Amino acid sequence: MDGNGRWAAAKGLPRLEGHRRGAERLIEIVDDCLDLGIGTLTVFAFSAENWKRPAEEISGLFKLGEWVLRAHLSRLERRKVRLRVIGDLSAMPEFVRRPLADAIEATRDFTAFELVVALNYGARQEIVAATRQLAEDVVAGRLQPDQVDWPAVASRLQTAGLPDPDLIIRTSGEHRLSNFLLLQSAYAEIVFASVHWPDFTKDQLRLALAEYAKRERRFGMTPEQLHTPPTA
Ligand code: IPE
Ligand code: MG
Repeated sequence: MDGNGRWAAAKGLPRLEGHRRGAERLIEIVDDCLDLGIGTLTVFAFSAENWKRPAEEISGLFKLGEWVLRAHLSRLERRKVRLRVIGDLSAMPEFVRRPLADAIEATRDFTAFELVVALNYGARQEIVAATRQLAEDVVAGRLQPDQVDWPAVASRLQTAGLPDPDLIIRTSGEHRLSNFLLLQSAYAEIVFASVHWPDFTKDQLRLALAEYAKRERRFGMTPEQLHTPPTA
């Protein structure tokens, strides 16, 4: 959800106003995804590297997150949205962690849609944690080195049980993944939108989906293989 700061700056507003509008856009985009038949949305809300930002911006972001949860939990429940979080929550302040844990618990049985919020998340940190778990399992004799395969790794990532992303959208004209779902995005289609996140409307989402629909996903196969039905 990139570009909140630049959206605000372009309007002569404080950065936090951009984040506030960005949070409102997120609430709307969840409805838009449900309307469009999408099953899972993962948003990068706060990266493990975002701690480098000024303290006032960080605390403003956390207060905003707490407010969004409080103000919109009933809306999520009404629409049967299951909330999940990936990232290291232990470093989050208690006033964010507690309502988050409550919201995750309150929505855990919903299946209509999954909203995954990446909070204090970094793909490299996630891979390091999974690797450490594998090493511990091997040392403890629960796992043989030759049993370390992709499913063994994937089941130790924070996204265990979630589908790999089909489409990754990066807003505000930046062309990089910035430590987001690096392993899970192996075959994701990536669409770059030039608008800042607060301007990423349902129409913008439709444009990104239309772009996605034009892509041919071959997963390593030749175009011919893809278009020729297998012979018996
Ligand atoms: C929001 O946009 C992303 C968050 C980390 C909350 P930015 O804050 O990165 O906005 P820009 O990139 O400065 O415009
Ligand atoms: Mg940014």
